Amino acid sequence: MKVTRDVPSTRAAIAEARRNGRRIGFVPTMGALHAGHMSLIEAARRDGTFVVASIFVNPTQFGPGEDYERYPRDTAGDLRQCQEAGVELVFMPAVTDMYRSDAVTTVHVARLADTLCGPWRPGHFDAVATVVAKLLNIVQPDRAYFGQKDAQQLAVIRRMTRDLDQPVEIVGCPTVREPDGLAMSSRNAHLSPDERRRALVLHRALGDARERIQGGERVAQVVIDRMRAIVAEGQPAGIDYISVVDPDTLQPVAQIERPVLVALAVRIGQTRLIDNLTVDPSGRCP
Ligand code: PAJ
Repeated sequence: MKVTRDVPSTRAAIAEARRNGRRIGFVPTMGALHAGHMSLIEAARRDGTFVVASIFVNPTQFGPGEDYERYPRDTAGDLRQCQEAGVELVFMPAVTDMYRSDAVTTVHVARLADTLCGPWRPGHFDAVATVVAKLLNIVQPDRAYFGQKDAQQLAVIRRMTRDLDQPVEIVGCPTVREPDGLAMSSRNAHLSPDERRRALVLHRALGDARERIQGGERVAQVVIDRMRAIVAEGQPAGIDYISVVDPDTLQPVAQIERPVLVALAVRIGQTRLIDNLTVDPSGRCP
């Protein structure tokens, strides 16, 4: 496994893989790798690609007061996991390699960036779209793999690559969960044992929404009200949102007639957790 830290050596390693007839699969991450990340790497491997992972804690996507400083970092552990999983190239740039001090260009994916987490994290999705656009330009993969765990991020990136004619196929991968249902996240490391237990209300609320919708409930507000009651049992520090939206446009749905994305963001103690589920009212697994 090769590790690169700058753009020219990354491009050289990828050019060599292409000369050897390989297709390139790319998994961008911020490190602190867990089974969720590894499932993306596994998907890229299954597709037979030359697997490139990036590890870059992108400072621009953290708001003031968010957790950039205390975001978990474990470079040695990450590299070991990449090696064991069969990653062939890890790109680990320094902040100064990614951002020139006079950079002024950003990517804004209108509307999709402005719902759900958007209002709670001003500028976040512009920063994600911008760094992912840069990473895609550096790596130039055939396929890039993203988790459904961050459904809004996935929708934003799909739309960006479509609107900008970026020649890459975006592959969405299912959310990997702990045995009790909590969606895996690097931020789970911040939860105290009591908070970890209370965090289960997110998964319970989503399960209730699925049951209700597949049981025939068509009024989104009824589903949301019930979810809110379940989440309240976890004594959250705050509920940022509980929403039922169209999976592609992320705009709110009032009457549930087609598959919908049920999504929520809840603060348990100091930690902000998100989760979501796509629910097909006809009961099929979307
Ligand atoms: P990060 O949070 O490290 O996540 C990297 C990728 O892993 C994302 O595509 C995310 O959706 C996926 N992922 C995280 N938890 C998962 C889970 N439990 N199941 C399945 N996939 C999961 O998302 C980012 O980094 C950054 O915003 C990034 C795209 C790298 C841009 O900086």
